[in-house]
Amino acid sequence: MDFRKDHARFLLDDWTEVSRQMRTVLQSDIRLLNEANERILSHGGKMIRPAMSLLFSRACGGTVSEGGRKVAAAAELLHNATLLHDDVADCSEERRGIPTTSSILGANASVLLGDYWLVKAMELILDCGPCSDRVTRIFSKTLSDLASGEMLQLQKAVQGDTSREDYFRIIYSKTASLFEASCVSAALCAGASETLVEAAREYGVRAGIAFQIKDDILDYTATDALGKPVGLDLHEKKITLPLLGALQQVGGDEDREVRRMVCEIDVHPEHYERIRSFVFEKEGIAYAESVLEEYIAKAKEALGAFPAGEAVELLASLADFIGERQK
Ligand code: IPE
Ligand code: IPE
Ligand code: MG
Ligand code: MG
Repeated sequence: MDFRKDHARFLLDDWTEVSRQMRTVLQSDIRLLNEANERILSHGGKMIRPAMSLLFSRACGGTVSEGGRKVAAAAELLHNATLLHDDVADCSEERRGIPTTSSILGANASVLLGDYWLVKAMELILDCGPCSDRVTRIFSKTLSDLASGEMLQLQKAVQGDTSREDYFRIIYSKTASLFEASCVSAALCAGASETLVEAAREYGVRAGIAFQIKDDILDYTATDALGKPVGLDLHEKKITLPLLGALQQVGGDEDREVRRMVCEIDVHPEHYERIRSFVFEKEGIAYAESVLEEYIAKAKEALGAFPAGEAVELLASLADFIGERQK
């Protein structure tokens, strides 16, 4: 399915308006800032978060309010801000098939640009209408989750002791929390009942967790089409679900040995192929795929609370897309 085509057809002007608002709010009189912004805007990503947001506005309210459009644009701005910061944290050279802002302009510029996009997102959120107080609190929590999730991930990369519980806490914080905020805020701006707001939350959290599990699988399995480096997680000493699944198959001594190899990967680059083979041999990918499927099914279950219609169908197909995507 070409989800972008289907969503653009259904969302029409709302879709165009979100892109316009992002561009407008980012405008500055600083040439370097405008050039850096334009480079990102003209190599846009999949726009999954604003798509979810607009679809929940439609599922709850029939049409999308001005506030609903602002929340959708803010979700994408905030997402891009996290990528600008994340590529510095991960020392990553490529994003969306082009060199990262940090590799071109330096880590300092990438962090500052991320801050700029983040504040522009907050400006839209503060101006999203009668629900802006509640929506601001939701996005503030997300910002706190994002930073703490990335910090916990850094801490765990040094300690090498990521448990399954740690992993789910990290991916909820760094990824699912923003999906949750995008969905819940849209429902709130559309004046939905608390039952529907709660269902939107469940969908957002589950789809967000599925999204990061898929991202972590692709980091082991993808080809060049991914548009960002493959295998970076291990090089950054991140123990993600495919490796946790493989570790589940072995006893204490082997578990300790593999974790030690991960911790020493910077001084022993040859560990990379050994750990990768371990993950495939112990069927860590298949394990992660089975957990991914569970979360996608649970995300779709949450949609049962909404009256049937095209917006809800597209949200279900968006959940499927998360499991099928190859980039
Ligand atoms: C990448 O998100 C960051 C993660 C949370 C894994 P996306 O895959 O949605 O990034 P773009 O915007 O489509 O490039
Ligand atoms: C997602 O984790 C980070 C963010 C929430 C920005 P990753 O570090 O796996 O994301 P990618 O793979 O660089 O896109
Ligand atoms: Mg990264
Ligand atoms: Mg990744």
